[in-house]
Amino acid sequence: MEKKTILLVLALLFCCMSIQVHSKYHSENKNGFHYKEKVTNLHFYLFDFLTGKNPSAVEIARPNRPVGAKASTPFGHIYAIDDPLREGPDENSTVIGNARGFYLSTSQSEDLTLLMNVDFGFTKGEFNGSSISVVSRNPVTEPHRELAVVGGRGKFRLARGFAELTTYYLNTTNGDAIIEYNVTVLHY
Ligand SMILES: *[C@@H]1O[C@H](CO)[C@@H](O)[C@H](O)[C@H]1NC(C)=O
Ligand SMILES: *[C@@H]1O[C@H](CO)[C@@H](O)[C@H](O)[C@H]1NC(C)=O
Ligand SMILES: *[C@@H]1O[C@H](CO)[C@@H](O)[C@H](O)[C@H]1NC(C)=O
Ligand SMILES: *[C@@H]1O[C@H](CO)[C@@H](O)[C@H](O)[C@H]1NC(C)=O
Repeated sequence: MEKKTILLVLALLFCCMSIQVHSKYHSENKNGFHYKEKVTNLHFYLFDFLTGKNPSAVEIARPNRPVGAKASTPFGHIYAIDDPLREGPDENSTVIGNARGFYLSTSQSEDLTLLMNVDFGFTKGEFNGSSISVVSRNPVTEPHRELAVVGGRGKFRLARGFAELTTYYLNTTNGDAIIEYNVTVLHY
């Protein structure tokens, strides 16, 4: 009986060892990935509306007491967004994608600042199905500002870059905004 048990244990051990030998989870580039970097410029308008019949930004959390300066998006408030991206600044301009994610209001002072954690996905043309990831500080009261592009999907694999933002329209009372984006992306 004991011998059998020992044999079983040995057999199991052997199995485990052989599994370990075959469990190498990495290899050199074998999937035909081509390392030729490209630069792409993207130009569009983001419509971020907190009010109206169909707001594209909704508050999902806030501190249990008011903190910091009075603002349309006060300190500590978090908003989920599904903002349309349009070709032009007109409300009827063609939608070419959407910005989905959330932003957190991060300034206790008058210099309203958002931390953007947003995936910009495209639904038209060459980049349909691809997206870029933005994780960045956004000092919204500055007329010109820059966000960091930290990654991407699809045709924007391994993307890195920056987005230059210009406020096209802002209602400081309710926070509704149309923002012009000029993005420069390095990708493969
Ligand atoms: C957008 O389209 C709607 C419906 O066709 C129209 O009522 C509105 O005036 C248009 N807006 C602009 C800025 O052209
Ligand atoms: C974008 O891609 C989706 C999914 O592949 C497809 O259903 C859709 O027709 C495409 N749209 C355009 C405008 O190419
Ligand atoms: C800005 O928002 C306030 C509050 O919702 C509204 O009363 C006002 O009409 C808006 N201004 C413009 C220019 O839309
Ligand atoms: C967007 O970037 C391009 C290329 O750098 C530049 O020519 C253009 O003036 C920029 N537009 C805006 C509004 O920043």
